[in-house]
Amino acid sequence: MEENKKNRPIRSYVLRQGRLTKHQSDAITEHGDELIIPSSNDLIKWDLVFPLKQATSILEIGFGMGDTTAEIAKTFPQINFIGIEVHSPGVGNLINKIKEYELKNLRIIQHDAVEIVDTMLADESLDGIHIFFPDPWHKKRHNKRRLIRAEFLHKIAAKLKNNAYLHIATDWEDYALWILEEFKACNEYTLKTENFHKKPDHRPYTKYEKRGLNLGHKVWDIIFLRS
Ligand SMILES: C[S@@+](CC[C@H](N)C(=O)[O-])C[C@H]1O[C@@H](n2cnc3c(N)ncnc32)[C@H](O)[C@@H]1O
Repeated sequence: MEENKKNRPIRSYVLRQGRLTKHQSDAITEHGDELIIPSSNDLIKWDLVFPLKQATSILEIGFGMGDTTAEIAKTFPQINFIGIEVHSPGVGNLINKIKEYELKNLRIIQHDAVEIVDTMLADESLDGIHIFFPDPWHKKRHNKRRLIRAEFLHKIAAKLKNNAYLHIATDWEDYALWILEEFKACNEYTLKTENFHKKPDHRPYTKYEKRGLNLGHKVWDIIFLRS
């Protein structure tokens, strides 16, 4: 990972503290052992984690508050999902949703996804990756902080099975165009449709997206296929 001037890695998120409600904190305390996969250097064995064996495996990076993640997992009970997020309020909120919907097909990792991709995901193990509204770094001067860069696209390509998909959505046009530029440096993918894709029905509106739409933003969905 790149290092900044103070010799700390440049991360795609900023950890904010102190907005954890009691409901969220209780959820983590009561159900964390069951639903959170601890970060480690061991590869995830999906068939040991989930009751449903040999199922389609989808990873979501940066689920935010997780409402959309839970909705998707509820709609597709035959698919196993792992969501990665660093913020505790989102982790607590998603645990509450998993319990409310009685989901058996969704687990959480609370850690930097860039490191998890390196350490916990086997090559050619995923059928799909969701990255919805990845980060707030829409200004060009912040491009080093952007999660979606050629280097990261290369890394996650190795984790996808042949013909598996990578679905990214953003509400910043510059970021959308940047993603297409970064993609050009990666020969592991083809675009599913030319440039942008119509929002698929299986992607409900996310919390961050709704805020953007209320501000008058447009949304760009991009779907790559591992080739
Ligand atoms: C702009 S929010 C969008 C959240 C959600 N997908 C939505 O659309 O409402 C981006 C989220 O990605 C998370 N994130 C960014 N970089 C991350 C990383 N490297 N590892 C894990 N989570 C990350 C942030 O913590 C944040 O919650």
